Amino acid sequence: MSAVARTAARTALRAVARSAAKPSVASRSYSLLARAATAAPKVSQAQWPRGIKTLDFAGTKEVVYERADWPLPKLQEYFKNDTLALIGYGSQGHGQGLNARDNGMNVIVGVREGGESWRLAQEDGWVPGETLFPIEEAIKRGSIIMNLLSDAAQSATWPALAPLITKGKTLYFSHGFSVVFKDDTKVIPPTDVDVILVAPKGSGRTVRTLFKEGRGINSSIAVWQDVTGKAKEKAVALGVAVGSGYLYETTFEKEVYSDLYGERGVLMGGIQGMFKAQYEVLRANGHSPSEAFNETVEEATQSLFPLIGQYGMDYMYAACSTTARRGALDWAPIFEKANRPVFEALYKSVRDGTETRKSLEFNNRDTYRQDLEKELKEIDSQEIWRAGKVVRSLRPDYKQS
Ligand SMILES: NC(=O)c1ccc[n+]([C@@H]2O[C@H](COP(=O)([O-])OP(=O)(O)OC[C@H]3O[C@@H](n4cnc5c(N)ncnc54)[C@H](OP(=O)(O)O)[C@@H]3O)[C@@H](O)[C@H]2O)c1
Repeated sequence: MSAVARTAARTALRAVARSAAKPSVASRSYSLLARAATAAPKVSQAQWPRGIKTLDFAGTKEVVYERADWPLPKLQEYFKNDTLALIGYGSQGHGQGLNARDNGMNVIVGVREGGESWRLAQEDGWVPGETLFPIEEAIKRGSIIMNLLSDAAQSATWPALAPLITKGKTLYFSHGFSVVFKDDTKVIPPTDVDVILVAPKGSGRTVRTLFKEGRGINSSIAVWQDVTGKAKEKAVALGVAVGSGYLYETTFEKEVYSDLYGERGVLMGGIQGMFKAQYEVLRANGHSPSEAFNETVEEATQSLFPLIGQYGMDYMYAACSTTARRGALDWAPIFEKANRPVFEALYKSVRDGTETRKSLEFNNRDTYRQDLEKELKEIDSQEIWRAGKVVRSLRPDYKQS
């Protein structure tokens, strides 16, 4: 895809995301519910249901918190004296900010004046001087400072922003990155504020679309510093306010290690590596691009992986032929053995900060956008993904974007 086509595709994607951001019937009724709840008679705290659950996850007991624990009147009462200052309006800022606003929270957005986020925020209805401010001004006005700048920007802006995070405010992150790797990022929170985390397990766009469908993303929560004794409760409540369906507890360290590991592994890096290796062996043995792509990517994404998501691995195996099943059962442990050392090396590289340093170095470059574009273009021009475009165009429901 040419740079021009890419820009067009990105614009189209933004348009889709923006149209997805327009209130649906479901979200309208949800925000109506939120507004009605604002006007609803006050309920005493003793009457609020408490529904924290301890669940047995394959033999390990874990506490989960659900949205049902925080009905809207309770949520709105809890935050009635707070201003949520959302700093940054990228993927998470957009999703979390709009959800919190629809839930009746008092939300303001802080971004660079005149930047792309400033423009996008206005498109979503944030008003300069009322609910949209330059970053420093938003922090001054906020009681809960939600740092949703990109991780590299959190580090780059910290010297200017840190003095504004004064006693009594709460500092909120959606990733443990900045504070856990403080030796590299230099992000060291003041000692007199609560520092909490709500990390949605998905993109900010999904945070928004699931909320609008009346569902909710699952998120993890954690506490880095508890000055008030209320830090965990606040994290859970904020998690619900930004659109989580249920929340599980972790630590800042575990959140960042598992997140960096997962995205470099099976979620993104590993899957591209596996797909490409399998495809290239098929091609080297004389199989056509369409056959190699179908047997590698198309069947995975269109047929088998959704079954794993819905019902689990055994169900997917059971849904396949006896021949496929026998082979998969035999080869799974071979892949596990071959991959285990790679995953061990990856975890070590995450844990010792190597991955963080690489990420900060790359994402802070002046040429960051061009360098990224170049690498993504290399993937796009690989034969497997060029073949994929043609295969996708053959789907009966294919729509030219
Ligand atoms: N994206 C995800 O899927 C995801 C999932 C879970 C958690 N998280 C975490 O959520 C946080 C936010 O992530 P994100 O993906 O939403 O961020 P993002 O899209 O990368 O954030 C971009 C935001 O940072 C601002 N920014 C970039 N450089 C800046 C600078 N030097 N000075 C001031 N502002 C700057 C941008 O403003 P301009 O438009 O003005 O450049 C924009 O508002 C991160 O901690 C991330 O790890 C992300």
